[in-house]
Amino acid sequence: MLNHDSKKWLTKIFGKNVKFNEPMFRHTSLRVGGSAWAFVTPESFEKLSELIRWSKKKGIYCMVIGGGTNLLVKDGGINGIVVVLKKCLDCIARTGGGKDSVIVTAMAGTKLHALCSFALNNGLKGMNFALGIPGTVGGAIIMNAGTAYGSMAGVIDSIKVLLPTGKTRVILKQNLYFDYRKLSWDRKITDIDNWQPIILSGSFSLRPSDPQRLKKQAVEILKARKKRQPSGLPSAGCFFKNPVSGKTAGELIDLAGLKGKSIGGAKISSKHANFILNKGNASAADMLALMKLVQEEVLKIFNIELESEITIAGE
Ligand code: EPU
Repeated sequence: MLNHDSKKWLTKIFGKNVKFNEPMFRHTSLRVGGSAWAFVTPESFEKLSELIRWSKKKGIYCMVIGGGTNLLVKDGGINGIVVVLKKCLDCIARTGGGKDSVIVTAMAGTKLHALCSFALNNGLKGMNFALGIPGTVGGAIIMNAGTAYGSMAGVIDSIKVLLPTGKTRVILKQNLYFDYRKLSWDRKITDIDNWQPIILSGSFSLRPSDPQRLKKQAVEILKARKKRQPSGLPSAGCFFKNPVSGKTAGELIDLAGLKGKSIGGAKISSKHANFILNKGNASAADMLALMKLVQEEVLKIFNIELESEITIAGE
């Protein structure tokens, strides 16, 4: 638990932008999860940097989340501070480029959807693959979010990160290693005491294109998504990563006969088997039990180990 002095410091610096014992189900799209010791929404970059330096000095765990759309927080909550960047890092701008390409920089707390719209409205090609993916730009970069049409790896030009010292570093594309739903870079660039740097922004290399054609394509992509995927009930999008080759996770779970299967308030969508839904009263334990059941069944029937795509955090 945070001691009195820590709470006092946080209240002094963040005022109404800090909440103590804040239930995480309010901040995750799965709508499950216990409380975080504190939940902070810094209103400026300076305050974010101050928080990071302070928590590192105090040895208090700080977890930066994006939109909470790919996150399952366990029922015991998070022993630490959860930080959300939506107030301090929310901006998109054209920052460079030449005749054939335009560099657009988006801050980490910006909604990915806003970046897609910015590109569409400015007749820039490259971001349509991300249409319909929920969450923030920062989260999408870390996850190398993507769909059948592409992923962040295909458009990123560079990223900017914050180090625990308060300094920032730009990491260029050639030093970023993207994998399926994963980003890494040479730790020598940023490594300080094994501390995970925070992504502040991403710069994207886009190409001028015909706005009408882009908009038409966008409508088709969103329509196809709506047709295949469930909407309405809380979820974290696709729950499992697709195996490297062969059948997709959705197909495997479907073939295993698990569509519609429930444990407590958690249910496998009857529309797309790679979606675990919260029927309204699910606990994180229900979600995890259903996840385990899926993994066991798919392993038993197909001898394939499904790995979750979402981050599981907390106690
Ligand atoms: N399928 C089934 N049963 C199901 C679901 C799917 O048989 O219950 C079959 C489909 O008929 C299709 C194949 O599986 O032949 C692939 O399905 P889909 O096109 O829906 O793609 P996916 O691989 O399941 C991926 C991404 C999604 C992204 C879609 C569309 C992963 C894990 N998932 O899903 O991205 O939206 O493609 O591009 O990479 C997400 O939205 O959260 C997400 C992660």
